[in-house]
Amino acid sequence: MNTIEVENLTKRFGDFFAVDHINFEVKQGEIFGFLGANGAGKSTTIRMLCGLLSSTEGTARVGGFDINTQPNKVKESIGYMSQKFSLYEDITVEENIDFFGRVYGLSNNELADRKKWVLNIANLHGRENSITKTLSGGWKQRLALGCAVIHRPRIVFLDEPTSGVDPVMRRRFWELINDLSADGVTVLVTTHFLEEAEYCNDIILINAGKIIAGGSPKELKENYIKHPILEVQCSDVVQAMEKIETEPWAVETSVFGSSLHVNVQDETMARERIRTILSENTIQLLNIERITPSLEDVFIYLLEQESKK
Ligand SMILES: Nc1ncnc2c1ncn2[C@@H]1O[C@H](COP(=O)(O)OP(=O)(O)OP(=O)(O)O)[C@@H](O)[C@H]1O
Ligand SMILES: [Mg+2]
Repeated sequence: MNTIEVENLTKRFGDFFAVDHINFEVKQGEIFGFLGANGAGKSTTIRMLCGLLSSTEGTARVGGFDINTQPNKVKESIGYMSQKFSLYEDITVEENIDFFGRVYGLSNNELADRKKWVLNIANLHGRENSITKTLSGGWKQRLALGCAVIHRPRIVFLDEPTSGVDPVMRRRFWELINDLSADGVTVLVTTHFLEEAEYCNDIILINAGKIIAGGSPKELKENYIKHPILEVQCSDVVQAMEKIETEPWAVETSVFGSSLHVNVQDETMARERIRTILSENTIQLLNIERITPSLEDVFIYLLEQESKK
């Protein structure tokens, strides 16, 4: 039973609710994305689910074990890669692997076998004797994942595993996550990269300790983006935004890099109005087209709705 069932889970620090009565379920073998802005409560939730931090209220069952009454059973069943990698920097790659293998109680034979596997996935053959701190971010990250799953846990928690890693390494890292999931391992992962969230089977979005949305990437887009989105490229996005966002037909307007995304009620009418408004303000229109919404559109929309409450 490699599932995670969270019920009313709450963590209060003094008067402050870091995690506020959250409920969700993660199915066996799925890749579950746990998203939210800085300070939203992701790491606090993960630490409770790993049996490392007690809950103030509510509970969760991880792999069938209760986090409050069976935290040691929980710890034995999971792998955890913390936001700050848990590797020891001043010892070698091999010493780190050996250390984690021993902590998780592997026999000599198992350890030899799993060490090969870790070196393989981390692509660190030949660098066993390198001091860990000399590895670049991407290698260190793969070594950290290898060490976190050296004991073949069936449930894995990855807290921002790809921060500070370049796009190529991130993509390779996600191949490893997919391999784990294909083997039936349940993966809960946090990330600030929304293109990574697209790879998840299910996602929840947490804001100020509360879950504000959940579903598959497809469901989230269908449920929350009801209006067509026009992408507008022009000579002055900031001024264009000021002029467009006050229009009644512009449901939501936000800047994405050098362009503007406008959720509109009626595409044809909005296209005409945007052309007119830009020309009246001598802003040069470079391109305007309807785009498929991304998860970034969904989350920006949801977080803006929250901030209006
Ligand atoms: N031990 C603690 N004592 C008091 N407040 C805490 C403690 N740990 C976390 N917090 C607060 O709880 C809130 C949630 O923190 P948490 O680390 O869970 O956020 P997060 O979603 O992981 O953010 P990030 O994306 O920056 O990692 C923050 O406001 C944080 O300052
Ligand atoms: Mg965090």
